[in-house]
Amino acid sequence: MSTASEAGAGNQPATTKERVFIFDTTLRDGEQSPGASMTLDEKVQVAMLLDDMGVDIIEAGFPIASQGDFESVMEIGKHIKHAVVCGLARAGTADIDRAAEALKTARRSRIHTFIGTSPTHRQYQLRMDEDQVYEKVVASVTRARSYTDDVEWSAMDATRTEPDYLCRVVEAAIKAGATTINIPDTVGYTTPDEMTRTIRMLRERVPNADRVIFSVHCHDDLGMAVANSLAGVMGGARQIECTINGLGERAGNAALEEVVMAIRTRSDVLPFTTGVDTRMLMRASKLVSAVTAFPVQYNKAIVGQNAFAHESGIHQDGMLKNAQTFEIMRPEDVGVKETSLVMGKHSGRAAFRAKLEELGYQLGDNALNDVFKRFKDLADRKKHIFDDDIVALVDDEVATASEQLKVVSLTVIAGTSGPQKAIITLDTGGQHVTREATGNGPVDAIFNAIKGIIPHQATLSLYQVHAVTGGTDAQAEVSVRLEEDGRKVMARGTDPDTMVASAKAYVSGLNKLVTRRGKAAPTTLKAI
Ligand code: KIV
Ligand code: ZN
Repeated sequence: MSTASEAGAGNQPATTKERVFIFDTTLRDGEQSPGASMTLDEKVQVAMLLDDMGVDIIEAGFPIASQGDFESVMEIGKHIKHAVVCGLARAGTADIDRAAEALKTARRSRIHTFIGTSPTHRQYQLRMDEDQVYEKVVASVTRARSYTDDVEWSAMDATRTEPDYLCRVVEAAIKAGATTINIPDTVGYTTPDEMTRTIRMLRERVPNADRVIFSVHCHDDLGMAVANSLAGVMGGARQIECTINGLGERAGNAALEEVVMAIRTRSDVLPFTTGVDTRMLMRASKLVSAVTAFPVQYNKAIVGQNAFAHESGIHQDGMLKNAQTFEIMRPEDVGVKETSLVMGKHSGRAAFRAKLEELGYQLGDNALNDVFKRFKDLADRKKHIFDDDIVALVDDEVATASEQLKVVSLTVIAGTSGPQKAIITLDTGGQHVTREATGNGPVDAIFNAIKGIIPHQATLSLYQVHAVTGGTDAQAEVSVRLEEDGRKVMARGTDPDTMVASAKAYVSGLNKLVTRRGKAAPTTLKAI
């Protein structure tokens, strides 16, 4: 395993560094969002993009949580060239040993161990008193240090922990060898001023606090995660834990793109830097949205579709005279390009490959062939192909390439005189199976026909259609959420025909559920 000095992020005194380390937990806390689970291939893709983008630490998973998590931490470790790869562990021996095992493949690795420290967590979740939790802190950090000298310790629910007790356990963690001390606002309860004071207090009161990096990990339950993270930095924290698109438990975590752009744009009042190449933020947002099938809110800061759109007359007038009248960031600095008319049915492979590279994609030959074929089909049906069309095609291909079940063909009979009818053929791992069904509307008929091929108990709890571009010939992007036995999955399908997109989204959701059958539902992991 690597040393802390190689790892870089874990051994610098907070007082002399104005660099803020970006710790991305999209693949761990982000993946804990109900329905946001990703396949191993998808996780590796996201991790590689984060690495290229300049993220300092990638929390790749929670190895003891499932065999899938263990394998993805191992696989990510093999692919990451620059960032520290981190694995999460509760305060028990088995968790820490499992994390250490999974991290063996990584060039630079960190074990992140945590325990609840607040009175509520001690009493109700752990059923331990202060001294018992203290002993666990010492034992878990000591064990983690026996594997690596880059150890992060988190005081779960730190912001609701008594200040004296928080100082006591942080001191114990430092003494036992932790190199990063993370102060999570686990339930999104704190305020910016409180966060600044908490970090400042710890740095002033805890012996040897100057030997570690303080970190903040803020949840967004009250919409203050980004503000609280930046406030933590003002108090002396030099690591922010965050996720792409703010994905994460409940209301999510601090959004990476927002903290990074706030630090960059307001360097006058936030005199810090990060190592993130901000021009890759949009790409990262789109990839995470595609693989989790979590849509990005239109007016989301930095990466929302409207983040750089100007609608009102006064705003448009100002923008034409000088962009700075209404823009504090340049769209190109976050990777937003003018939506341009790109290509048509006569465009060749070389031009298509160049376009993909310009959009930030590097596909292998097989994937390129598949997407190029889909592009040609689309160009035959749709007059104008925009960048967004190509992004939707590639993201759809990436998200579904390894799926076993695929839609081969679909015929729908719909209209005012029902019953509506669907005839669908699916490829079920090499075998084509066709079923016909009726329903209360075309979507119901399609889903019933699919159920005839793949029997299941899943319920559809969300169905959304969104047009990728303007125009009546735009591609439809359908998102669905399916739930079965406590497992939730989100899935997406894209096609110029809304009914085909619906079938693709539903089948993609079933693929995800089938993969997860037999695995523990996410709620079965105990506190320790
Ligand atoms: O929110 C939280 O407290 C966490 C810890 C595991 C760091 O995610
Ligand atoms: Zn969290």
